[in-house]
Amino acid sequence: MPTQFINPTELPAEPLTKSDLDTPFLAVDLDKMDANIAKMCQGTRDFNVQWRPHCKGHKSPVIAAKLVDAGAIGATCAKLAEAEVMVRGGVTDVLIANLIVGDAKLQRLASLCQEGDPIVCIDHLDQARPMNEALMQQGVRCRVIIEVNIGLDRVGCSPEKTVELARELHAMPGLQFVGIMGYEGHLLTIEDPDEKRIEIEKALKLLADNAQQLKDQGIPCDIVSCGGTGSYLLSRMQQGITELQAGGGMFMDQFYEQQCRVTDMQKALTIVTTVVGRPAEDRAIIDAGKKTLHVEYEPAVVVGRDDIVVERLSAEHGELRLSGKAKQLAIGERLELVPGYADMTCVLHDFFYVFQNDKLVDIWPLEARGLLQ
Ligand SMILES: Cc1ncc(COP(=O)(O)O)c(C=O)c1O
Repeated sequence: MPTQFINPTELPAEPLTKSDLDTPFLAVDLDKMDANIAKMCQGTRDFNVQWRPHCKGHKSPVIAAKLVDAGAIGATCAKLAEAEVMVRGGVTDVLIANLIVGDAKLQRLASLCQEGDPIVCIDHLDQARPMNEALMQQGVRCRVIIEVNIGLDRVGCSPEKTVELARELHAMPGLQFVGIMGYEGHLLTIEDPDEKRIEIEKALKLLADNAQQLKDQGIPCDIVSCGGTGSYLLSRMQQGITELQAGGGMFMDQFYEQQCRVTDMQKALTIVTTVVGRPAEDRAIIDAGKKTLHVEYEPAVVVGRDDIVVERLSAEHGELRLSGKAKQLAIGERLELVPGYADMTCVLHDFFYVFQNDKLVDIWPLEARGLLQ
């Protein structure tokens, strides 16, 4: 069968394999993804921690619903718009791990509270006061948690200020204070395993201590949230943590494996490409560049080929260095690449093409892609 450009909004009736589709495209191996999901879900359950996987990478309510079916309690989102897409797709328990500012967003948040049950981060009273007013005007209440700076130095109030801020939030009728979160993103790539464990313990103890102080003051703190794929194996076992946000591990990538040393998950996400040029015996050009896959944190690799190195990417061209048998690579041949960073690769695409034993079984749109507000 000749290569096809298919209409991605409907799954074709005839059976198709990877080689039938035109390139480049984003491919998901369903069995590997499901195995990763099962492992992460069980891996949190084993430590009595709940799992609220981040959807910033997949941006798909279909995947979010699958994760809930597998045992997740809901979704973590990076944006209000992501939360809207997930709630409208049926996943109503959403944590927006971000700060929400401005009238337009507060009106949307008030509407979202009528459709689902969001949780929003706060790290300053100047976010909380207008939020409280906007929600009260609409006659709704929204769950909020305090984001605490546990060392990442991105957002978050300092741990010494958490109790004072929580007391203020607890008194606001439009807000329901439910807990705290922190992200240990600065500790993911520590090389020495003992040092990584010790640093994560120290950072997350700041959260556990804050939670205890709140309870001592009679302020409820049911949620203590943290965790990314690069740290969750350690974060899940820290005292006081109630839920984890790790999400990207369901796809896996080179960054998690090579830099965060997460080795027990399968590479479920690939980019399928075609060799379009052979400028020299030891060089090939593929139809996938920086607008197709993200390699800033870690180079991409070609599946099953240690004789090919992804050397350089420009916008729409990928340059490969060939050795050994790869020097026989012909124009028109297909290669499959594991991206350096899956999160930033997915958002370059409109659809996941989902395969099971090389058969196209589904096409999932990244519905929240490009929705940045
Ligand atoms: C707030 C927050 N939580 C969790 C994560 C981890 O996400 P993942 O597991 O997809 O790497 C991130 C990553 O940037 C984050 O910003």
